[in-house]
Amino acid sequence: MAKEKTVYTCNECGGTSPKWLGKCPACNAWNTLIESVASVDAPTKNRFASLAKTAEVIVLSDIEASDVDRTPTGHEELDRVLGGGMVEGGVVLIGGDPGIGKSTLLLQALDSLQRQGKSTLYVTGEESGAQVALRSRRLGLDKSQVKVLAEIQLEKILATLAAHSPDVAVIDSIQTVYSEQLTSAPGSVAQVRECAAHLTRAAKASGTAIVLVGHVTKDGTLAGPRVLEHMVDTVLYFEGDTHSQFRLVRAIKNRFGAVNEIGVFAMTEKGLKGVSNPSAIFLSQHAEPVPGSCVMVTLEGTRPMLVEIQALVDSGGPSPRRLSVGLDKDRLAMLLAVLHRHAGVACMDQDVFVNAVGGVRISEPAADLAVLLSITSSLRGKALPKGFLAFGEVGLAGEVRPAPRGQERLKEAAKLGFSMAVVPKANAPKKPIEGMTIHAVERVEEAMEVVRSLT
Ligand code: TYD
Ligand code: MG
Repeated sequence: MAKEKTVYTCNECGGTSPKWLGKCPACNAWNTLIESVASVDAPTKNRFASLAKTAEVIVLSDIEASDVDRTPTGHEELDRVLGGGMVEGGVVLIGGDPGIGKSTLLLQALDSLQRQGKSTLYVTGEESGAQVALRSRRLGLDKSQVKVLAEIQLEKILATLAAHSPDVAVIDSIQTVYSEQLTSAPGSVAQVRECAAHLTRAAKASGTAIVLVGHVTKDGTLAGPRVLEHMVDTVLYFEGDTHSQFRLVRAIKNRFGAVNEIGVFAMTEKGLKGVSNPSAIFLSQHAEPVPGSCVMVTLEGTRPMLVEIQALVDSGGPSPRRLSVGLDKDRLAMLLAVLHRHAGVACMDQDVFVNAVGGVRISEPAADLAVLLSITSSLRGKALPKGFLAFGEVGLAGEVRPAPRGQERLKEAAKLGFSMAVVPKANAPKKPIEGMTIHAVERVEEAMEVVRSLT
């Protein structure tokens, strides 16, 4: 029988110490030791037991690779990010701001899995059973057979999982769960890590698919448990503005499917509903074009989406501000330097704000050209023409680099009635696209020149 004791493990090097120290004895890093549980086996008679025969070494091509069995949740957009559905024994971490819809989506998914004949368990640590019931009524899930457990103690949750062995279980949220083995408070890194590790082990051993809900801190990472991301099979993040109707769920890691796939939902009175054709939801509706706005096509996963990039350039104080929402801040600083150096447009004494409309986060560099054009449009106070869009990566030397799958992006834009585009030369289509004038450019200066001639 394995005994357990408390040790302190270094976050940096993995070294351990029997007591808490400010400095890791192994790597000398400060404040990196956190409490954890180690099991110590009673010393065995046979010291060489570990050298005994383990599993056999097999040639890779001889291993039979069977495709994993997936259970679709019945919510197409969720299945898309999961790579087809829930996988037996798979562990999914789903993160997002409070109030964005994590509990709502998971309750809907559990209910539809239950209706398909799967056994489900919803472990709630944040809300009481009555609150969960109230939500399920709001969602119109009357007579729902989903089993609910209001519990936050890990050992009891594990016992319930073992007793009921559900097909799918949701732990809402991992930050509320605590283990008796540790003295630190629920939500601390030590607790979150320990509890997630135990739950993951339980999932693998029993075949129950487990979904862990995690809260995100202000800076957009899961509170403490970035450490969780490597433990689980799939990591999904909720994005979007809680004030707008639309929510995105993005896969950032998936051992069973493609990453960077996104699912799009709309929050309605009856919970989250999938949006199967999301290409135009991130455009704001201006009757007439306004300065400081440029539309781009981003390609998230398999679907192109049109997103409006907005910029405001206004005279700033002695240390002007650069602020970006939904776009990388460092990249904005870099783009402003390129704009100055290669196109001769200076914003040194100006505040520059940029925003991707609708709370969407764009990580791909193909947004660069649209960012630059919206900034110059705001600076000059001149709107880009109606039906205009641009995309392409901008390099430090002022070159405009192609975006992957440019044709697809242009076709989607044409479908939505866009008629004019500035794109990287390598993305210019060989055959003309009906109803669309395309200006292919190789350098930032060229793009500026084209736009100046149009406005
Ligand atoms: P919730 O799922 O509780 O968020 P999380 O678990 O991520 O914290 O989402 C709650 C929000 O969604 C809340 O502000 C109300 C809204 N909502 C609806 O608009 N319609 C609904 O049917 C439900 C259940 C919630
Ligand atoms: Mg919740």
